[in-house]
Amino acid sequence: MTRPETDTAAVQQAAQDNLWLHFTRHSSHADGQVPTIVRGDGAYIYDIHGKRYLDGLSGLFVVQMGHGRTELAEAAAKQAQELAFFPLWSFAHPKAAELAQRLAAVTPGDLNRVFFTTGGGEAVETAWKLAKQYFKLVGKPLKHKVISRAIAYHGTPQGALSITGIPAFKQAFEPLVPGSVRVPNTNHYRADEITGVPGMTPEQFGRWAADQVGKAIVMEGPDTVAAVFVEPVQNAGGCFPPPPGYFQRLREICDEHDVLLVSDEVICAFGRLGTMFGGQKFDYVPDMITCAKGLTSGYSPIGAMIASERLFEPFKSGTTMFAHGYTFGGHPVSAAVALANLDLFEREDILGHVQRNEPVFRATLDRLRDLPIVGDVRGSGYFYGIELVKDKDTKQTFNEAESERLLRGFLSNALYDAGLYCRADDRGDPVVQLAPPLICGPKEFDEIESILRSVLTEAWNRL
Ligand SMILES: Cc1ncc(COP(=O)(O)O)c(C=O)c1O
Repeated sequence: MTRPETDTAAVQQAAQDNLWLHFTRHSSHADGQVPTIVRGDGAYIYDIHGKRYLDGLSGLFVVQMGHGRTELAEAAAKQAQELAFFPLWSFAHPKAAELAQRLAAVTPGDLNRVFFTTGGGEAVETAWKLAKQYFKLVGKPLKHKVISRAIAYHGTPQGALSITGIPAFKQAFEPLVPGSVRVPNTNHYRADEITGVPGMTPEQFGRWAADQVGKAIVMEGPDTVAAVFVEPVQNAGGCFPPPPGYFQRLREICDEHDVLLVSDEVICAFGRLGTMFGGQKFDYVPDMITCAKGLTSGYSPIGAMIASERLFEPFKSGTTMFAHGYTFGGHPVSAAVALANLDLFEREDILGHVQRNEPVFRATLDRLRDLPIVGDVRGSGYFYGIELVKDKDTKQTFNEAESERLLRGFLSNALYDAGLYCRADDRGDPVVQLAPPLICGPKEFDEIESILRSVLTEAWNRL
């Protein structure tokens, strides 16, 4: 029998008949052509027909050190031979212990306690559960609610989905976990609409947006609110960096009401913004960090919830236990790969590389502002969103039918056909999202710009 991976038609058939793709309309592949990636090398991926694409999204904000790194593959193979599996349920294994220590050494503040998961949604789930139990243990049992921002994505488990601020992703699964409240995000491009006050400076908008969290806490009752979940730079909606002062004010508000600040860094950690953790870029210390994706550059799955000393304190002694865990959380192979990945970070000074090249990436993408369809270019580090508009002067966005035609009907496929894998997203206003591997430099930035320029020009002509 022919093994499917050696036979293009058989792989296509198997994908068509038996694979259930994530967040995918299967009808869009009714032609029998499920795009299939077979190989990666550096910043490039290759499809089943041998065509090359620039990986403009690092897979899914994951492949920090690029594809095809033998050091990472070898670390996985070595660990699988030595100890392929053992759980962290009452036992430790050396690689998980070493990784926890290594992460604790580079987190901000005293976030020294690492609870491993297999991915980001589980890390978010873990953080909410810990927040609830922590407050029960310290005599504030009513504190259980969480606050998060409009259009923010925090994962698909029912708790994480409840925290997620995208109504369309939630409706099919209601009722979700109760006690989750939404506040405005930091989309400065649309600050006039969001605030109802025209012309706020970034500083004023930052203060206003942070204060909305304070107001929500007061409205809900501070005695009932356990945590605020925010990304350093919000992904969904198209890369909203924090306005100046936002996180400093948010930290003050959380401290004032004894509410935990959870920095969801599933995308923003591990060099995406040029720092190990996203909070370090914007100079704040959260109470918990949730992370995943880039920790292994994707060579094996892992996630983590990292908590401050204060949150671990009630679990240190007596009979108290955090009754929570995952069979594959902190998997030895993934932990070994993460350690090898962090070695690569150091050896290749990847944080320095991103910091040095960040202004070039920004300047290259900024060149696209001359196109009539480009309303805004925003982001940080190697993480950018390009917002598309129908009218630059009024910032008018596309209606549902136009979005359907433009994003789903044309843009995603056209970018891919032109050799750029990235994402056209309309969870908020329509944006093209970019997050190339951290090994990229000016050559790849120019390639991204050139493909975007021709495809966005074509999109405008079709409108
Ligand atoms: C900010 C954020 N939190 C949580 C998640 C969920 O992570 P996972 O898909 O690994 O469960 C994501 C995924 O993209 C994310 O971007």
